[in-house]
Formats: sequence, C-alpha cells, structure tokens
Amino acid sequence: MDSIIVLDFGGQYTHLISRRIRDLNVFSEVLPAETSAEKIKSIQGLKGVIFSGGAASVYDEDSPKCEKQMLDIGVPILGICYGHQLITLLEEGKVASGDKGEYGITDMIISSGSSIMKGLSGQMNVWMNHRDIVQQLPDGYSTIASTKNSPIAVFENTGKDIYGVQFHPEVTHTENGMKILENFVYDICGARKHWTAGLFVDNAVKEAKETIGDKKAVIGLSGGVDSSVAAVLMSSAIGKNLTAVYVDTGLMRYKETEFIEKIFSKYDLDLRIVRAQDRFFSALKGVTDPEKKRKVIGKTFIDVFDDVAEEVGADYLVQGTIYSDRIESGHSKHSSTIKSHHNVGGLPEDMKMKVYEPLRNIYKDEVRKVAREIKLAEDIIKRHVFPGPGLGVRILGEVTPERAEITRIASHIVEDELHKAGLHEKVWMGFAVLLPVKSVGVQGDERSYKYPVVIRIIESEDAMTANFTKIPYDLLEKMSTRITNEIKAVNRVVYDVTNKPPATMEWE
Ligand code: XMP
Repeated sequence: MDSIIVLDFGGQYTHLISRRIRDLNVFSEVLPAETSAEKIKSIQGLKGVIFSGGAASVYDEDSPKCEKQMLDIGVPILGICYGHQLITLLEEGKVASGDKGEYGITDMIISSGSSIMKGLSGQMNVWMNHRDIVQQLPDGYSTIASTKNSPIAVFENTGKDIYGVQFHPEVTHTENGMKILENFVYDICGARKHWTAGLFVDNAVKEAKETIGDKKAVIGLSGGVDSSVAAVLMSSAIGKNLTAVYVDTGLMRYKETEFIEKIFSKYDLDLRIVRAQDRFFSALKGVTDPEKKRKVIGKTFIDVFDDVAEEVGADYLVQGTIYSDRIESGHSKHSSTIKSHHNVGGLPEDMKMKVYEPLRNIYKDEVRKVAREIKLAEDIIKRHVFPGPGLGVRILGEVTPERAEITRIASHIVEDELHKAGLHEKVWMGFAVLLPVKSVGVQGDERSYKYPVVIRIIESEDAMTANFTKIPYDLLEKMSTRITNEIKAVNRVVYDVTNKPPATMEWE
C-alpha cells in the first residue's frame, strides 16, 4: 500500500499531519526522527516523507535530527516549520532567530509557481507558529513565497524534489492547507488512494490468516468498539480457532453480559462468557486506593483470562490496541506522554502467547469506519467509551456488589435519558459516580441518610481535554428524579461542572 511517512520532530501537530493524509485516503504513519534513512527507504510502498514541526531550534545541540541521507532516499520530501528549517540546516543553508516570532494567521505572498503550490497564487492566509526563520537558501533551492517576517516562507528544490513550508498546512486556519497536502501527496509523490475501510478489511484478514495460520488465538472481548472489531475481523480470518473471552467482572455496564451474548452469538467464534464477579469483589475487599484498585482489577482479570487461554491452548493473544493507544503509551519519542492507558491490567510478564494487534495502525474514527464496513451492530459502534477497570473507577472508596449495582443503574439512567433527549451521540460520555459518604435527606416524610450520586457528562474531541456539557436543567432534573426514585440507597444527585484539566473524565 502506498504510504507517506511523517518524521516526528516533536511538533504539537505531528499526528494531525498524518491524519490529514489518511483523510486523503493514503496510508500515513508517524515514525521517530531518529529512524534510519535505510529503514525508511525499505518501507514497502513508500511514496514520500514529511518532516514535522517541532518546539526546539535546529541549532540546539540536543534538538531532534534525522540523518542527512534522509534527503537522498529517492522519494519527495516536505518539511513543515521546524522540518523546513532542518532541511535548510542539512543542506547547508542558514537558519537564524527571527527579529520577531510569527504566531497565528499571517499574510503570505506567493511569488513564483511551484508544484507544491499548484492552483494557488497571490495572497493567502497561513498559520504560523515559530521564531527561527530560514535566512539563506541552500544551493539549488529557490523561494516560492514570503511573509513579512519570513522572507523564505516556502522553498523548493525541483531537482531533488524537496519542498519546505514555514507555516502549518495541516492546521485548519491555513487557507487551502489541504490543497497543499494534496499537491504533495497526489501530484508530487504520486500516492494512490488505497487507504479505505474496504481495503483495510481485506488486508487485515489476509495478514491475520498469514500470521496465525492454523494456530489458536484468544481475544478479550470488552464490548468496546475496538475489541469487537478486532474479534469480528479475526473470526473472518480464523473462524473457530479464535476464542473470545468476555469476563463479567461485576463492574460492567447495565445488562452488558446479555448484550454481548446477543451480538456475538451470530459470529463463527468460540465465545466464552466467564462470570467472575465473586472473584473480583473478594479481591477488592477493603481496597480504597485508586491505583491499587486498578492493579487489583487488572491482576484478577489477567488471572481469569489466563485460565481460559491455557485451557484453549492458544498461541496468540489478539488485542484491540489502536494507533492512539500506542501514542499515549509513549510510542512517539518526542511528544510528551500525557497518560499511559492500558486496556485492563497490562500483560503478564511471563506470558507465553505472542501478541497480535490487527488494529495497531488505525485511529478511533477509522475503527468506526471499519466497523460499519463489516456491518457490526450500530449499538456497539455508537456506544460511549467505557474504562477498562469498569465501574471500579466510578465507585469511590471500597467497591462492593451493592455499590456496583447503584452505580450501574444510575449510569444506565443517565445514558437512557441522554438517548431519549437525542444527546447521547453528541457527548463523549455520560455516567454516574458513587461517593463513599452519606448526607441527610427527606423522603416520604422521613429523614433519610444515604449516598449521593454524581452525574458526569462531558464533551471531548480526543479524550486529552474535555469540557463538562451544559446540559439543560430539565434533563438533569429528570435524571435526578429517576435516580432517587429508582435507587433506594440514594437521596441526592449532584452535577460535576469541572473540565479536564484540571479534573480527569473518570473520578479515579
Ligand atoms: P481520563 O479519566 O483519563 O479518561 O480523563 C479519558 C478516557 O479514557 C478512558 N479511560 C480508560 N480506558 N482503560 C481504558 O481502556 C483505563 O484504565 C482507562 N481509564 C480511563 C475514560 O473512560 C475516558 O473515556
């Protein structure tokens, strides 16, 4: 498959560049700046390389660099911002600290025709975010466009097929930014539109067949879209040699086990439902520390899962890990790791099975496209994200069966009312959290002393930041009334009005 590699020099938008190219139906992946030129050159289907932006100055001793040979691997190169300056440095031109920085929307004048600016001329607004500038072009390069503070805002070397732009074409504030990326990807690199959900499915099934052969594999089915898509793809590839294990931890969503049974019974896979609630609740007895809770849930999950894997005699462990899980776990060296997420509890150290991750190269919205391609139930595709440790991170203090049931029903009421109001798909998540304190109320003319429930409804683009949803009071009132009416142990409901940061979405 044709691909464009984005080398990561630590820019805030590195992954966005790769996203934009995928949106052009061309496969793109981010690799660390230090990846050797030889390795990049050997990538099958390589059509072009983009040097990303970055926060450092190219003259800083420890700023990220790539090998000079990267410019001679025989495919077109595009440098963006820091990448534009790095090409200058590698080619022995001159980069200098600008008099003033250029931040935000900037006026640029295109002074000369170039295939990178095909279809564009005259003035255009571009989005800048830099202080250093290219001061002197290397030999063989010419200037295509300028701004007030960046006399060399776009350059090209037609002989070597190397281009540089000081601005960020991947950011929507840049007028015709997509046109510039299209010029590079389609015209200059000649990449073909092979990155579609249909082709992904064909390739994934083929790769899975070749990798697993007639060996046995297990997958943990959580009911989330990632593991569900991975399971269905794998079942098309290896059929009954795939055992899907769904563990009912006692901390799952409302009527989840019945839901999973119904959805997956129609596929040709060996589905095992393990009802392990008692094991989880006894392991969680007396545990109140959030991190310890996560560890106990993770460890118990692995123990239960391992028993089934051993019984099946599986050689492979299939995981629904997606591209952003790898980024968040620090796969990209120059971007900072915000939070290391894990599905449930990490992998056992002495694991004998080999790990296979069919969705490792795709983003969440691409997983959803694949899900629709393979006609997975819409109920699964559209459902809210649910954390690996389940209700365990939504019950503060000790986790008991009683508290799990309160949280489960309260969360169900929140989601149900969001559905009825047509808001479920518009928000990232809506759920309930149970607090380990009690407050005084009055119910049926009697004093009550019961738990409060917190409603948390949030909006987010990428889970990294989030805002609480400004939900209509009427709807909150409906939820609150239902929660106190339908759950005996609750007499008070509060709404969480905190964004992320400073809070996280989950309470633990
Ligand atoms: P936070 O609480 O970090 O959550 O703002 C961001 C998103 O990630 C989900 N989440 C998890 N998912 N395993 C998961 O698979 C986990 O341990 C985990 N912790 C949080 C959370 O539900 C939200 O959508």
